[in-house]
Amino acid sequence: MPGPGMEVVGEEEIQEVLEVLRSKWLYRYGEADDPNFKRKVIQLETDVAKMSNVKYGVALNSGTTALLVALGALSIGPGDEVIVPGYTFIASISAIVYARSIPVLAEVDRTFNLDPADVEAKITPRTRAIMAVHMMGNPARLNELRAIADKHHVALIEDCAQAFGSSYKGRPIGSIGDISGFSFNAYKTITAGDGGMVITNDENLYMRSFAFHDQGHSPLRGGVDVGKRPFIGLDFRMTELQAAVLLGQLRKLDQILGHLRTNKKRFKSLISDLPGLEFREITDPEGECATLLTTIMPSAEIAEKVSRELGGRPMSEAGWHVYNNMENILEQRTITPEGCPFTCPYYTNKAPRMTYRKGMLPQTDALLNRSVNLSIGVPDPGLRSSFGVKLTDGLDVVEQRAAEFRRVAGKYLR
Ligand SMILES: Cc1ncc(COP(=O)(O)O)c(C=O)c1O
Repeated sequence: MPGPGMEVVGEEEIQEVLEVLRSKWLYRYGEADDPNFKRKVIQLETDVAKMSNVKYGVALNSGTTALLVALGALSIGPGDEVIVPGYTFIASISAIVYARSIPVLAEVDRTFNLDPADVEAKITPRTRAIMAVHMMGNPARLNELRAIADKHHVALIEDCAQAFGSSYKGRPIGSIGDISGFSFNAYKTITAGDGGMVITNDENLYMRSFAFHDQGHSPLRGGVDVGKRPFIGLDFRMTELQAAVLLGQLRKLDQILGHLRTNKKRFKSLISDLPGLEFREITDPEGECATLLTTIMPSAEIAEKVSRELGGRPMSEAGWHVYNNMENILEQRTITPEGCPFTCPYYTNKAPRMTYRKGMLPQTDALLNRSVNLSIGVPDPGLRSSFGVKLTDGLDVVEQRAAEFRRVAGKYLR
């Protein structure tokens, strides 16, 4: 089973989708006075913006396009650098490449999210944005990152794909960045199989996001807008069917988060006395999504042994999330042979060509080598490991899995 949202798909989502199918209006635009137009996408945009405490949302077809739209809205492009963690899903980095700008890989710290000290060290005159990725349901150090962004007059983008529903020191995730992206793919807190959204408080960024996601149109396009399109856009629209599923899922968010948090707390309490076992630092224990419990072993050797015996691998081997394993990024395998954006003169006239190599982020490597993820509601498909529990598992299963973990890890942690 992929993520938590998918586990609880049920009657609410079915009724929402049937309402749309029966109305036979599957498209995000419609006439306001047409009873068949159920306004599901508009409702979703409104609801997510409201719960995120921001003014605007633009629903999209994926989290990857959400990041591309965010970068485009900020006019980030050739010659620009964006700082991004070396531990993230590859889409955070790919979106920067497709915006024709240069990803600058930075270290993560014990939050497994951007290390503010390394971010500050990597700011250059070419930096246009910091992309804070909230990995595994836990917000990055947003106060520090916001302060660095403000000090250097660069934008802060929040990649909230893995953290829908979480908050940071009382503020909803996505509301601290200038513009933020969500994913609703199958592994996320709530899902429609695929889908995404950008949210922002800035009207100009909203207008630009909307235009990018739909051929240059202004919000809720009333016609073809001839003469008024600010730039060339594409089509990343969400359908009414996806939005219907997500509205059903949204109503279950509190239930999903409650379950994840209870299971994680119990799992952690049952193993935390193991000598030498440490855990990921959580920036806001009240606000995290609690989709994974990340353990840190005293050494890479122990992490290797424990994870293998549990049927998985240490986090350093994650095929989807660790820069060392992203050969297409390391080798700059661009879709066209001239190597744009890495060879782009707008960049190379200002700075030496960017290079990437395995081992370039030693702090990140040392942390991931020692770390083993336990699933609370999201397995890591990149590790082919799902040791842990599912969302709908009760505390009895949590206790069994914790006992199994103790039996294996206890052999090495003394
Ligand atoms: C951190 C992060 N960013 C971006 C994405 C991209 O989202 P999507 O799969 O919806 O394109 C994901 C998806 O897994 C992700 O985990």
